[in-house]
Amino acid sequence: MDKLVVRGGNPLTGSLTVSGSKNTALPLMSAALLTDGRVTLSNVPDLKDVQTFARVIEVTGTTIEHTPQQHLISLNAGSLTRIEAPYELVKRMRASFYMLGALLGRMGKARVSLPGGCAWGPRPVDLHIQGMKALGAEIDLHQGYVVASAPAGRLPGGRVTLDPSSVGATINIILAATLARGSSVIENAAIEPDVVHFCEMLQAMGARLNGVGTRTLEIEGVDRLDPVDFENCPDRIEMGTFMIAAAIAGRPGQAVEIHHGRADHLGSAFMEAFQRTGTRVEESDSLIRVIAPEELRPVSVTTDIYPGFPTDLQAQWTVLMARCAGNSKVYETVYPDRFKHIPELQRMGVNAIIVGDEVVIEGGKAIQGTHVMSTDLRASVSLVLAGMVAEGETHVLRVYHLDRGYERLEEKLSGAGIDIERVRYDEWADPS
Ligand code: UD1
Repeated sequence: MDKLVVRGGNPLTGSLTVSGSKNTALPLMSAALLTDGRVTLSNVPDLKDVQTFARVIEVTGTTIEHTPQQHLISLNAGSLTRIEAPYELVKRMRASFYMLGALLGRMGKARVSLPGGCAWGPRPVDLHIQGMKALGAEIDLHQGYVVASAPAGRLPGGRVTLDPSSVGATINIILAATLARGSSVIENAAIEPDVVHFCEMLQAMGARLNGVGTRTLEIEGVDRLDPVDFENCPDRIEMGTFMIAAAIAGRPGQAVEIHHGRADHLGSAFMEAFQRTGTRVEESDSLIRVIAPEELRPVSVTTDIYPGFPTDLQAQWTVLMARCAGNSKVYETVYPDRFKHIPELQRMGVNAIIVGDEVVIEGGKAIQGTHVMSTDLRASVSLVLAGMVAEGETHVLRVYHLDRGYERLEEKLSGAGIDIERVRYDEWADPS
């Protein structure tokens, strides 16, 4: 296995470049299944999750040409014949469940494994299934699989209200509804930038969608969609992670430049909270300059759906708060159990405790390097951030979690002054 070894204390200087969005690339790849021509996506991040999803798609008979170094992926679903997404692949990545909507929409039937649990607790797919039923699909659960079919081969369409508003369910339902015989409406649809960008790709393919970016989304089914070449948007969570890195490890008063990001994709709650810490942000086009203050101020946050504070940035925010003299809270409303990073941060001397759905942080204490375990994607990056400002060496183990969502993180950070390297290790070796 690989680990990241971070020697703390170096300032973050210079610039960082944001890769394409992981959470948007996956639905864009799913959209390619709705047409029988070749779709080419650019700015696709070179990540494990993209490779996993490419394998899921290949099972259907779709041909894929992937050139990860160039961040390009071409998909041709003209040869799509199999309607299955097997457990062996779906269990590796929950977003594989998008195959349900894509296959139902394109083929009128699907057999997709239920994804099962998640590292930080239950993550249901009931809304996805409820949505497919509302569009007219017949659904059976059989031996861990969702077996879905459209009457007479094509969904009639229908109306569904999502509660809570779910990114994944919104995307899955849109995938199924776009080629339906009739019209559909999603009430309380997700409006995350990932969803909006995905809708824009479908519109470029000829889909009829109204209310994109609003809570009421109308989908008028069309008979066919055309292939398209489409550029993926920047990863807003990677950008937010870099902004936090600049605030905690940047030299006070000196700008860290973050290229190819979209500040508006982060949502107003993050930007407001970030600036209240005393960190300055200057934006121009796709360049964001982050200037760390002499002294960071504590700011409590509550995660919420877009444009609320993203749950995918709360672990990183906890590390930022650990650097501020004073107390703060991180209240998680999207995934109440998502605190697996806290015991690991506590091992580094971070004074943070979990109280119900909340983490209470007493900041300003020294952070110490040690061996810590990655438990999920965003938890692992929070450990790297803590390692950057810790005394001594931090070994972040099981870094495969981080590799799912951060492209060459150690190369990007070491290019900006951080002492970090990837090292192979044997997890079960006896201590010498
Ligand atoms: C996506 C992101 C993930 C992010 C999350 C919230 C991808 C691949 N993943 O996950 O990084 O943390 O949005 O911004 O894009 N829910 C239900 N029933 C369902 C589906 C969801 O109750 O059928 C609930 C969830 O438990 C959660 C809330 O809805 O409380 C929002 O989850 P959702 O937006 O669906 O998250 P994902 O799409 O899985």
